Amino acid sequence: MVLYCFLLCLVQRSSQINNNRFQLQRSFSDLLPQEDTIGYFSILLDNILSNSMRNMNTPKGESCIPRVITLGNNYTPAISERPFGNCPYCCSIGNPANHIGLYFTNKQKRNTFTRLETLKIRGAFKLAGFKKDLFTIIYIHGFTGVGKGPSGKRILEAYLSRTENYNIILVDWKNLSAGPWYNQAATNTRIAGSTLADILEFYNKTGEIDLSKVHLIDMSLGAHVAGFTGKHFNGRHKIGRITGLDPAFPLFPLTDTSQRLSKFDADFVDVIHTNGGILRFPTSLGHADFYPNGGGTVQPGCDLSTLAENKLMNIAAFCSHYMAFEFYVESVRKPTAFPISRCKDMHNGYFENCIIMINGFMGFLANKSLLGDFYLTSNGSWFIKSIKKKHVKR
Ligand SMILES: *[C@@H]1O[C@H](CO)[C@@H](O)[C@H](O)[C@H]1NC(C)=O
Ligand SMILES: *[C@@H]1O[C@H](CO)[C@@H](O)[C@H](O)[C@H]1NC(C)=O
Ligand SMILES: *[C@@H]1O[C@H](CO)[C@@H](O)[C@H](O)[C@H]1NC(C)=O
Ligand SMILES: *[C@@H]1O[C@H](CO)[C@@H](O)[C@H](O)[C@H]1NC(C)=O
Repeated sequence: MVLYCFLLCLVQRSSQINNNRFQLQRSFSDLLPQEDTIGYFSILLDNILSNSMRNMNTPKGESCIPRVITLGNNYTPAISERPFGNCPYCCSIGNPANHIGLYFTNKQKRNTFTRLETLKIRGAFKLAGFKKDLFTIIYIHGFTGVGKGPSGKRILEAYLSRTENYNIILVDWKNLSAGPWYNQAATNTRIAGSTLADILEFYNKTGEIDLSKVHLIDMSLGAHVAGFTGKHFNGRHKIGRITGLDPAFPLFPLTDTSQRLSKFDADFVDVIHTNGGILRFPTSLGHADFYPNGGGTVQPGCDLSTLAENKLMNIAAFCSHYMAFEFYVESVRKPTAFPISRCKDMHNGYFENCIIMINGFMGFLANKSLLGDFYLTSNGSWFIKSIKKKHVKR
């Protein structure tokens, strides 16, 4: 209960971020998308809270509306007094399409967004300026994330820096993914995924979106939302591509592909694994799975001394998890930054006993020609990373 009060007090003290515009900025302390971060501790907290709330009344709707809290400049988790869902102390979801915010922008609109109509109104995407012939980037945040939060901003910024134009959509499912309710958020990935699929299917039928040009990019818990979106198209027109960034593991099954992101969910599914152990999925999930530095527990740059040096100790527990996101964003700006190899003979993050053959590139350039598991090494620099050939032994 002390913890619960702590969270409520935070909720009460915070104010909701609700601006339709933001400054595109980039500073060192802004590098990591620090939403989603209270994630895994919350499973424990969720269990404690769920027990203590078992006998509480059915809540009023407003106690489930998340508040976005600003903890420091760049850490903005969304938390709520109660979760939306089907539990006794949950607020009922009603029409889930009311809980999926789709914030759309492109090169011309720059840093202004249009909230796309999710209630299936013919012509609404087109009216908003959505262009069917362009590739559509759809970013799905993770647990406690916010659509237009730090990670969405960084994806957007990276794609806007490219010469070609895209439809860019930041998905806001914070109503269904608010902290500290991890268990409920994990359950809600199914609802968020099928709702997003339903919306995309409708606007595909109206001729406003080409599903083969849709690329879902998703962090952690968001990866399963993408998976459930893709599963919906089972056999019919598939989603073009899903990129999973260190998909969340807690509460998702190892082998049952119908209950998590899998290679059946899109024409091409690629996954970047950066946090070995309990946080990330311990097995390969996609057509192509990438293991930077062996996918090890501590990614270069996330060691305590580097973090201390850069005053980033607050993110120490999650740094490696977020490196998946960092790798992807960097690859949008520098597509050939991360050459990959099938050689998996790695020790402490360095290749050993193999001749490195460059088999392609991780991230932006990955495509259907890549099948299987791929490896690479990178140095500790968060901006410039590349294979360390000099460490390769034959
Ligand atoms: C969250 O729920 C509230 C209340 O139902 C709704 O007004 C709001 O639009 C929802 N947010 C998003 C991003 O869908
Ligand atoms: C729906 O998406 C599919 C797959 O990309 C595409 O071939 C089709 O033309 C789209 N439907 C319409 C009506 O535009
Ligand atoms: C796919 O990637 C491979 C390896 O990077 C590249 O050689 C090939 O041209 C790419 N194919 C397409 C269709 O982009
Ligand atoms: C990381 O590797 C790149 C490419 O090899 C190199 O240019 C850069 O200086 C390295 N950075 C650090 C901090 O070692």
